[in-house]
Amino acid sequence: MRKPLIAGNWKMNKTIAEAVELTESLLPGAASATVETAICVPFTALQEVGRVLEGSSLALGAQNMHEEESGAYTGEISPLMLNELKVTYVILGHSERRMYFAETDRTVNGKIRSALRHGLRPIVCVGESLEIREAGTQKDWVKDQILQGFEGISGDMLERITIAYEPIWAIGTGRTASSAQAEEMCGFIRDLMGRMYGENAACGVRILYGGSVKPDNIGELMSMDNIDGALVGGASLSAADFTALMNVGAE
Ligand code: PGA
Repeated sequence: MRKPLIAGNWKMNKTIAEAVELTESLLPGAASATVETAICVPFTALQEVGRVLEGSSLALGAQNMHEEESGAYTGEISPLMLNELKVTYVILGHSERRMYFAETDRTVNGKIRSALRHGLRPIVCVGESLEIREAGTQKDWVKDQILQGFEGISGDMLERITIAYEPIWAIGTGRTASSAQAEEMCGFIRDLMGRMYGENAACGVRILYGGSVKPDNIGELMSMDNIDGALVGGASLSAADFTALMNVGAE
């Protein structure tokens, strides 16, 4: 049985003091949540936010990492550094990393393999641009991202991986994919996993939707068979909204 995950992606927002304040205000909502919950915060806030999260069910996540353990990679953060901060999740291959920082499926693949080697749980982002959606080739695009991104990753690792389908045209635009569009792609990804790893592994892999998720559209998205939660940007910066999102489906 797949346990849904609601993960916040704070992106480049919040100073340490602001991050601590927001995290503290999320604790009650996380405690009542029936789904798994996580916040992926800026590197600078990981340590302090981690302290606030101690003993809570809200998991700590990072937004990126380098695949090497150490070396001459100015400005980068290694998996060992994340381990030291007791990070559980790490977002990899977010479309903003691919777009603005030239990450490719090959670099994302290296990062996923490294994260798994270091006991981290990758949240692997895939998704097409508006141009690709309008050309109708979004499934080929996402399939390519997955085939290359998952090269060398064995089926027994899948339970540690979460996939997030995030159509670029829906990120931060207020234009959510319809639940039918989101479900269609998440179902396609699950079928692809089935062809790559077999039915059982595919049934177990958690697939999130991301892109303008808000309290008023989460219910419908989560009611879809193949959508196991959400990766939330903008709405994760509001304590009220993220509390509502974490408690989707709870009485
Ligand atoms: P958004 O971002 O919820 O602000 O659209 C989602 C994401 O980029 O992960």
